[in-house]
Amino acid sequence: MVQIAVFGYGTVGSGVVEVIETNQKEIARKAGDGIHVKYVLDIRDFQGDPIQERIVHDVEVILADPEIKVICETMGGIEPAYTFTKKALMNGKSVCTSNKELVAAHGAELMRIAGEHQCSYLFEASVGGGIPIIRTMNDALTAEKIDRIEGILNGTTNYILTKMERDGAAFDIILKEAQELGYAERNPAADIEGHDACRKIAILSSILYGHNVDYRQIYTEGITKITPKDFVYAKAIDCKIKLIGLSVITKEGEFAMVSPRLVPADSPIAGVNDVFNGIQLHSNMLDTSLYYGRGAGKLPTASAVVGDVVECVKKIGGSIPAAWDETEKKLTDNGAFRQQYLVRIKGMPDAMQQKAEAAFGGIQIVQIPEAADEFAVLTGEMSEQEYRDAAEKIPEIIGMIRR
Ligand code: HSE
Repeated sequence: MVQIAVFGYGTVGSGVVEVIETNQKEIARKAGDGIHVKYVLDIRDFQGDPIQERIVHDVEVILADPEIKVICETMGGIEPAYTFTKKALMNGKSVCTSNKELVAAHGAELMRIAGEHQCSYLFEASVGGGIPIIRTMNDALTAEKIDRIEGILNGTTNYILTKMERDGAAFDIILKEAQELGYAERNPAADIEGHDACRKIAILSSILYGHNVDYRQIYTEGITKITPKDFVYAKAIDCKIKLIGLSVITKEGEFAMVSPRLVPADSPIAGVNDVFNGIQLHSNMLDTSLYYGRGAGKLPTASAVVGDVVECVKKIGGSIPAAWDETEKKLTDNGAFRQQYLVRIKGMPDAMQQKAEAAFGGIQIVQIPEAADEFAVLTGEMSEQEYRDAAEKIPEIIGMIRR
């Protein structure tokens, strides 16, 4: 029997205990040994909960116990998770985490420390919840050269966008509903401003390059400015609006960004709705592939953590290689990234068309009956810098979504 500990008995931590207890036999068969949760670290007590007898408040008790081989870090946030994880790895205990903030900020260092101490630092649950995207990129698609990652990486915002499109409802109303349903993070800014998706695309980009992509260099725009009218324009050009974490290699450079994007209604990722996540990869042999499922929630996320525990148990005394190293990967400035833009403009096409054409070049005019005093133009492919320069000449612009 392999003894493990769980740091943090919140939603995911309690899910880890539940997954291990519910699927005991399957897990033991696949790991080659049974797995038992010996300790749960939490500052709280859980009187009346069967876990209470395993609760400890002092991390040192766990770190000093040679029986503990693997730790599930489900605390979230940088500290004290960072300090506890480092200490655990230095003690030769593998750590499996759902903590995307910590992985994005210190993942490379923690993987190096794990390698130096014959243990592993794994984080399948940090991106896409229960969807096995990390292992797919690290272990399954090793014969592929991936050149495009498009991820719907945040369930809350995908729920909001899906509902706004279906109901024609305003952003604020659906956000409130998402919070009542418990989807949004404690601080909804992390979801709606795109910060959560930014950490996740930074992690996937780091795997893509094998070097550390600092999340702070990724341009990030959330969904707070999207209105019901935007969906009507999108529909008029056969598109859906999704918050996309994009990481792409083109002939102009290597780019990453998080922003609302227009995706063709018939593309696989356009069918990822509600609270679900989806990651669409493009690679040179396999072509397009889509990984879809529950990107959040207690049991799906906990299942990914426990899957990592099983990997660690299979490799006790050894180390699973780091997915990327500490070398900083500098991405190309987004100014050079080429794409189309759907631009909403105040006024009528007869008065504005010439001005828009002079600024953007060839454009397609998009008009919807729901908007009498405005219209939109779909530009041809142009770089972000070219777009910015052109947009400066048109103060009547109401909004823009990339395609
Ligand atoms: N708030 C996140 C989401 C949780 O909505 O996807 C999972 O990381």
